[in-house]
Amino acid sequence: MAIAVSIQHLTKVYASGLTALRDVSLDIQEGEILALLGPNGAGKTTLISTVCGLTTPTSGTVTVGGHDIIRDFRASRRLVGLVPQELNIEPFERVQNTVRFSRGLFGYPDDPAHIEAVLRQLSLWDKRDTRILELSGGMKRRVIIAKALSHEPRVLFLDEPTAGVDVDLRKGMWEIVRALKNQGVTIILTTHYIDEAEAIADRVGVINNGQLLLVEDKATLMRRMGRKRLHIELNHPVDRVPEALDRYRLTRDDDGRSLLFDYDANSEAPDVAALLHDLKEAGLVLRDLHTSQSSLEEIFVTLVREEA
Ligand SMILES: Nc1ncnc2c1ncn2[C@@H]1O[C@H](COP(=O)(O)OP(=O)(O)OP(=O)(O)O)[C@@H](O)[C@H]1O
Ligand SMILES: [Mg+2]
Repeated sequence: MAIAVSIQHLTKVYASGLTALRDVSLDIQEGEILALLGPNGAGKTTLISTVCGLTTPTSGTVTVGGHDIIRDFRASRRLVGLVPQELNIEPFERVQNTVRFSRGLFGYPDDPAHIEAVLRQLSLWDKRDTRILELSGGMKRRVIIAKALSHEPRVLFLDEPTAGVDVDLRKGMWEIVRALKNQGVTIILTTHYIDEAEAIADRVGVINNGQLLLVEDKATLMRRMGRKRLHIELNHPVDRVPEALDRYRLTRDDDGRSLLFDYDANSEAPDVAALLHDLKEAGLVLRDLHTSQSSLEEIFVTLVREEA
């Protein structure tokens, strides 16, 4: 499969001296959906802005459809659609006009049929003559997507498309993304939600502190991330984990008042029954049990620690 976007050794140092991207290399295949996960300030928006030509790289190269984003700026920019994180949209303009205008900005001739198709796909056709300021937040977000699709981009960047949107709209957004993929559009989106990446991405990249920590096939990553933890609260604290329980590799928590059992949520069900039996045999009395799933934040912490 051809490479849609190729990022090689990309570094970005802002004028302030802040390094937002550190030697990022990443190839994005044509037609794939890549989700970029990362905490606030990780560099996701900087990465997207650079590929879209809104921010200049300090060093490194980026090509879109084989076109260098500096040398062949126009050719590369035409291939790209961007849905920015910050919604910035003319309040008094009408939906259809603003989308048509966007197409014109890219030097494409007017194409009412295409604009209609885009508006219909985003359920905005009924709102085509409504002024932006009269739309709900979710509708405005869809108008931004329509603008990004107005010039038939081959690569679409969605910077946190579902931050602050309701459940229905979120699912709707996922459907739109899947439909675009089926039309052959390459999609790069950023998100803070791991379930979002899980729902739609083919590959997931994790970025932190300007570094791309990993890019992995979603299924592989989910396996890696799918840790579960059984919290075993004891009636009486213990100084150490009894030797008879060695094989479970428990850790002590809360000054010995709890034991923690970590296991892989995606593997076969762990033998919790045997563990409980052995706990009792070892003379431990349970007060309570609960499980927790590793959160995205914990996963980041783990990844960053692994990196160090
Ligand atoms: N124009 C700018 N000038 C100087 N520093 C900037 C600029 N834009 C972003 N930064 C800094 O670069 C770093 C990366 O910011 P960026 O917006 O790329 O992060 P992000 O991963 O998109 O975060 P978020 O999840 O909050 O959107 C941050 O430390 C930010 O403060
Ligand atoms: Mg951002």
